[in-house]
Amino acid sequence: MARDEEKEKLKKTILLLQDEIERLSSPPYITGTILDFADKNARISVDGVGVFEVPFGDKLKEEYKTGARVIINPMTKSVVGQSEFDIASGRVVTVEEVDGKNLRVQNRGESCFVLSNLEGVKVGDEVMLDPSGAIALKHWGKKKTPYVLEKIPEAPWSNIGGLEGIIGIVKEEIEDPIKHKEVFERYGRNPVKGVLLYGPPGCGKTMIAKSIAYNLSQLTSCPGKKDGHFIKVNGPEILDKWLGNSEGKIRRIFTAARDTASENGAPVVVFIDEADSILKTRGTGVSTDIYDSIVPQFLAELDGINGNGNVITVLASNREDIIDPAILRDGRVDRRIFVPRPSEEGAAEIFMIYLKNKPLDCRSFGKKDIKGIAEESSAQIYDGRNVAYRVVSPKGTLGFFLYSNLASGAMIKGIVDRASMYAIKREIAGNGRGISKDDIKRAIEEEFSDHDGFAQAIVPTDWEDVFGHNGRQYNRACQQGYLTLENIFSRIEDSTKLKEVKE
Ligand SMILES: Nc1ncnc2c1ncn2[C@@H]1O[C@H](COP(=O)(O)OP(=O)(O)OP(=O)(O)O)[C@@H](O)[C@H]1O
Ligand SMILES: [Mg+2]
Repeated sequence: MARDEEKEKLKKTILLLQDEIERLSSPPYITGTILDFADKNARISVDGVGVFEVPFGDKLKEEYKTGARVIINPMTKSVVGQSEFDIASGRVVTVEEVDGKNLRVQNRGESCFVLSNLEGVKVGDEVMLDPSGAIALKHWGKKKTPYVLEKIPEAPWSNIGGLEGIIGIVKEEIEDPIKHKEVFERYGRNPVKGVLLYGPPGCGKTMIAKSIAYNLSQLTSCPGKKDGHFIKVNGPEILDKWLGNSEGKIRRIFTAARDTASENGAPVVVFIDEADSILKTRGTGVSTDIYDSIVPQFLAELDGINGNGNVITVLASNREDIIDPAILRDGRVDRRIFVPRPSEEGAAEIFMIYLKNKPLDCRSFGKKDIKGIAEESSAQIYDGRNVAYRVVSPKGTLGFFLYSNLASGAMIKGIVDRASMYAIKREIAGNGRGISKDDIKRAIEEEFSDHDGFAQAIVPTDWEDVFGHNGRQYNRACQQGYLTLENIFSRIEDSTKLKEVKE
């Protein structure tokens, strides 16, 4: 009896060892995907290797279908079973065309055909390919564009100071044709397809674009359908190192805009900030090849907008001079709106917006109301003795950029933020309450002198403001190093000195 038990135990051990020897001596299996079947063979896309034809009997055909993941013995090149693992990695691509069992997809910037057994795949959908990239295995559905904003930020016109004239033009050009659609139609006037907002940095272009979207959503609001009216893209986000991908992105942005507009029955604003970075003039040497294909795609999309006011393109740029003229031609983005630096009155309005509801030390300003305080603060920037840069040529001084030539809404906000900080510190230390005139003065000095890269913020129109029709020429001379900007950033108290230097 004991002998029998021992025998049985030994038998089990031998069997186990046999299994182990087999496992250790067999090569690692590889995996693949069945593409399709012929009479006696199956075509299999072997992961990371390529496509093989392997013998495949009728019995096996009953077991496996196109798209099945299988284990292959590399020695015998035969299918040994079904893989139980998910695909470790597969590329997700966008479908460009569906033709029976073939899909044309966009893969790493190239169009290529892959097989597919998937049901209901449509153009614009995303599919996952098998690791060799031969067959689409999974349907991800429509690619969600990351560009549609679900909610439009609240941005009433009253948040913007000193730009009434500009806002008036925007309202006339964009809001009125939508508000009074029938009247405009009777006179045969189509709503604009696009506007270009251009001008120096920090002066409200982005704010205006947001307000356009917000106000349109208010105008056309229908209950429950207020979302998704604003698609904001930064130009450089569109640039892609893969040839063809940038065009694809533009196409997707406009498709999303048109879809959202028709779903919601309300206008969608496509806002492209820093538009000059993608829409540079073609073939001038200013641009490289990539613009030669982005600009035509953009034009095609603009021309595809049907002009019923449903999709409005707003471009913003501070280098409108390098945008391809075809984009700005009639019937496309044909309204150019210059968003200037604030005037002294405009700056006072912006001060009012940011000083509102803040504790103020009215006595130090010698004023009772916020309007007077805002005007006083603005006057401190626009004092003609505040010199930022001296423009110097080899022959001497050509002129000056004053603080007023460089002021912007963004800086005024920065000044108020700084002044608030001084006041907070003083109040904590128990030395009084409220923003004082000195706080504003100090904040202006620091805002201007602290500002790195100021010179880059000077745009061609600023040169024209200071030097009239010579401005653009001087600007170029400065870029080429014939003229220099000498930092001053302080008040030249002595007006004769200012004059002396000037001469
Ligand atoms: N006219 C203005 N009224 C109130 N705030 C302003 C105004 N202009 C600018 N600002 C403030 O400056 C910030 C920057 O403005 P915005 O982004 O609109 O400038 P931009 O013209 O688009 O500049 P960029 O060319 O650098 O993109 C705003 O968020 C706002 O706080
Ligand atoms: Mg901007």
